[in-house]
Amino acid sequence: MSRIAIVSAMHPELAAVLAWLPQAQTQVVAGREFVLARWHGQEVVAVLSRIGKVAAATTATVLIERFDVQQVLFTGVAGGLAPQAQVGDVVVANAFLQHDMDASPLFPRYEVPWYGRTHFATDAVLTAALARAAQTALASGVLDAQAAAELGLGTARVQAGLIVSGDRFVSTLAESQRLQQALPEALAVEMEGAAVAQVCHDYGVPFAALRTISDRADDAAHADFLKFVERVASRYSAEILERFFAQRAA
Ligand code: ADE
Repeated sequence: MSRIAIVSAMHPELAAVLAWLPQAQTQVVAGREFVLARWHGQEVVAVLSRIGKVAAATTATVLIERFDVQQVLFTGVAGGLAPQAQVGDVVVANAFLQHDMDASPLFPRYEVPWYGRTHFATDAVLTAALARAAQTALASGVLDAQAAAELGLGTARVQAGLIVSGDRFVSTLAESQRLQQALPEALAVEMEGAAVAQVCHDYGVPFAALRTISDRADDAAHADFLKFVERVASRYSAEILERFFAQRAA
């Protein structure tokens, strides 16, 4: 039977998922705890990658080489870059790019050397299924009204588009504007997705990723991010993945 990986960078992004999974077995590899379980009958392995591209790439490689996963899902939070990506919205990635990759003048800016590409596409079928699950979860209300009001959240939307990754927490308006000008198609910024996308590309393993916007990658990003990850991030992951696995089982 096929096995699906569920990856988040930090514990607060996956806490509710880990609490739900009846832990059949855990295994520690490369200092990470891999939790093997079933979700609506589907074999899953859930793991925290830690933060940044190298940590994420190591985790993805272990998942494929040691745990023989056939699909990889990433769930977590991101900073909103495009004006339409507001706090509480969900972005489903259709592609990833490393915004801090620059081997120019040897290779064009953002191109990953020897790959001949800047963008790594996600798997269309998995991505569509994640987007459907996110729509269903948002429509039935992921958050209670009090939490939504406290965080000042409007009506959340699901959007699909480019997510950019780099080894920087983007926390000034100036940097966020620079990124938006350089990469106007980017909806959101985070620190792992492009690395996992590249590893999955190397192995031919389908990959999809979903990120809830926790902050606007501006001068208030640090405070907004902490409030969001502590209060609600894992609710989004758990509610959306619950619908994703329920839909697969149906
Ligand atoms: N993840 C969540 N918010 C982020 C930000 N502002 N920059 C990078 N990664 C993030």
